[in-house]
Amino acid sequence: MNGHLDLLIPRHDIEQTVSRLAGQVSEDYRGRQLLVVGVLKGAFIFMADLVRQIEIPLEVDFVTVSSYGSGSESSRRIRVLQDMTLPVKDKDVLIVEDIVDSGYTANYVLHHARDMGAHSVALCALADKPSRRETPIEIAYLGFTVPDRFVVGYGLDFDNKFRYLPDIYAIEMPDEHA
Ligand code: PRP
Repeated sequence: MNGHLDLLIPRHDIEQTVSRLAGQVSEDYRGRQLLVVGVLKGAFIFMADLVRQIEIPLEVDFVTVSSYGSGSESSRRIRVLQDMTLPVKDKDVLIVEDIVDSGYTANYVLHHARDMGAHSVALCALADKPSRRETPIEIAYLGFTVPDRFVVGYGLDFDNKFRYLPDIYAIEMPDEHA
């Protein structure tokens, strides 16, 4: 894949947005039993920045889920590769995603946490690509709405590449201008 990277969201905008989301979460969950669950791998950078800015006590856990193959097309098949390890029962669970695309992954994880006995379950997503939605989903805490392009960086990958980039880019595919 030799696409050109187009800067979409610079790191300064990401920092401001993460602060805003952390502020909202801190306010809404004050005095509650907050368990923050990151959906790996994509959420690892966002999650690390978010929890360091939330100003209330919390627990951290992860679930590793895969919904894509090695290419760019979404598949409806969700595979749980590694489940959460902390007890969920009666806790207020905040699921943290890097991006909501079709909505199947986030929907699955939200239902999964409810099935495990969570007191409440809500979704925090850094990015939303609503043009690709196939199943309705409520994003309680949303960073950015992004266009229908392949976005990478800040945890987001294309075929497991580009996750390490500190800014978010859109990949301009060679055939976009064909
Ligand atoms: C990506 C992304 C979300 C999901 C969104 O994960 O991190 O979890 O897809 O797509 P959906 O709304 O269509 O379900 P992916 O399965 O690519 O794994 P990754 O987090 O390891 O990149």
